[in-house]
Amino acid sequence: PWDPTRAAEIIAGLTHKEGPTLVILHALQEAFGHVPAAAEPMVAQALNLSRAEVHGVLTFYPDFRRTPPGRHVLKLCRAEACQAAGGDALAARAETRLGVTFGATTADGAVTLEPTYCLGLCATAPAAMLNERVIGRLDAGKLDALLTEAQP
Ligand code: FES
Repeated sequence: PWDPTRAAEIIAGLTHKEGPTLVILHALQEAFGHVPAAAEPMVAQALNLSRAEVHGVLTFYPDFRRTPPGRHVLKLCRAEACQAAGGDALAARAETRLGVTFGATTADGAVTLEPTYCLGLCATAPAAMLNERVIGRLDAGKLDALLTEAQP
């Protein structure tokens, strides 16, 4: 869960890094699973930026989550090689089966569906990632198995 004291420590420890905004936002997401709105003024103050600037960075990168994820995170690669290998149909299938659009979490809190842009598995496209596990050569059957695993 979000902990402002811990967040302040993380921020303070990274303000001297090169390109600190992204470094800090990644570290916060790593620690808390998301970067809540409450973090924006903290990061802004630490880096002498406006809150709007921090908000802009957070919302520009699809990797950042602004709300807590579900128990499982299913990422489907939406980049070119995977699209060319049938990724669009799989993406549509995942949305229909879960009843959510990309970026959203199922009502039972089981699965967050997220886009990702190249997992480095283009040779075995289309690719997906369930939590920390990467899966290549995704097809409808494999996708359904992942969905059942994440939301039994
Ligand atoms: Fe999907 Fe590279 S484009 S893994």
